[in-house]
Amino acid sequence: MQGPLIESLVRQGVSRRTFLKYCATLASMMALPPTAGRAMAAAMAASRRPSVIWLPFQECTGCTESITRSHSPTIEGMIFDLISLDYQETLMAAAGFQAEQARHSAMKDNFGKYLLIVDGSIPLGQNGAYSCIGGRSNVDILKEAAEGAAAIIAMGTCASYGGIPKANPNPTGAVSVSDLIKNKPIVNIPGCPPIPVVMTGVLAHYLTFGSLPDLDDKGRPKAFFGETIHDRCYRRPFYDQGKFAKTFDDEGARNGWCLFELGCKGPVTHNACATVKWNGGTSWPVESGHGCLGCSEPDFWDAGGFYKALSVPADPLRNGAAAAVVGAGTGVAVGIANRVKQGSARSSHETTTLDDLEK
Ligand code: SF4
Ligand code: SF4
Ligand code: F3S
Repeated sequence: MQGPLIESLVRQGVSRRTFLKYCATLASMMALPPTAGRAMAAAMAASRRPSVIWLPFQECTGCTESITRSHSPTIEGMIFDLISLDYQETLMAAAGFQAEQARHSAMKDNFGKYLLIVDGSIPLGQNGAYSCIGGRSNVDILKEAAEGAAAIIAMGTCASYGGIPKANPNPTGAVSVSDLIKNKPIVNIPGCPPIPVVMTGVLAHYLTFGSLPDLDDKGRPKAFFGETIHDRCYRRPFYDQGKFAKTFDDEGARNGWCLFELGCKGPVTHNACATVKWNGGTSWPVESGHGCLGCSEPDFWDAGGFYKALSVPADPLRNGAAAAVVGAGTGVAVGIANRVKQGSARSSHETTTLDDLEK
């Protein structure tokens, strides 16, 4: 463990107001009560930096690109910087033997305490030979690193559910992290790639409460995946009026009508794109004129990918999804409110406080 977060925040010139605003926004995104922002800020400012080991396996580097390029120099970026990233072969300066040595040292020094992040699926075909690092298969490395992990974050749809490498006919025998590891807490943050704010939100939750957030039945944080794209889509009024674009350049498309008939998978896709958006809140796929591909759901590529419309009837989608979300939302609120109580209690024992931040 490294020094308290608060020291790094002060060093980076983060003002108290900026930090509180970030925590209030995050608390609101996670459906916490209004008072939770300050409790989160106090707990997070006093937290100590957890060691993080990040293993990229059978992946396209899109997840890494998404997380590392999208938010600097915002506070989300700083929170991400404030973990102790002890191994990430794409980002670290060390290579070859030195890099492997760094991973082993981090695992040994922080055994039982480090967070393990994985992006990419794990190929099992040909005894794992399709993807090896330093002469060892991904499956061997994952099992070894999972041994001493306090918790695992499967980042992106490949690590969460197998993703595109697992698409039919799955030539490498790709599987997800949770297919292989059964004895550790695992949170899935799917998306191809995942939304950076969701990733930093999960990290912030871990720093605040010392645990992973409440998850849905597919292992995703309910706070960010509790609703479908369709539930919060700004084109929803057109769907409800039966106004659908038929091609990408017809009058309906130009008027912003619903993209359901052009293959939008929003009605069956759980993710936060419609509310959090991408690139600092600039836009998201549906706002840019393209239907949702369903990239945060298992087997999304085999389910139709581009331009294949959902075959389910429209009316049940309108009625069914809303009822499901009401139930999920209630669970999130209760679960997270309990975590806030835990976080407040924990922070009251710390000697450093928010007031130590630069005014
Ligand atoms: Fe690439 Fe998508 Fe897999 Fe991430 S989830 S590694 S972006 S294919
Ligand atoms: Fe939006 Fe797609 Fe739902 Fe239409 S089908 S309202 S474009 S999410
Ligand atoms: Fe993926 Fe659909 Fe969002 S394609 S990025 S879940 S709008």
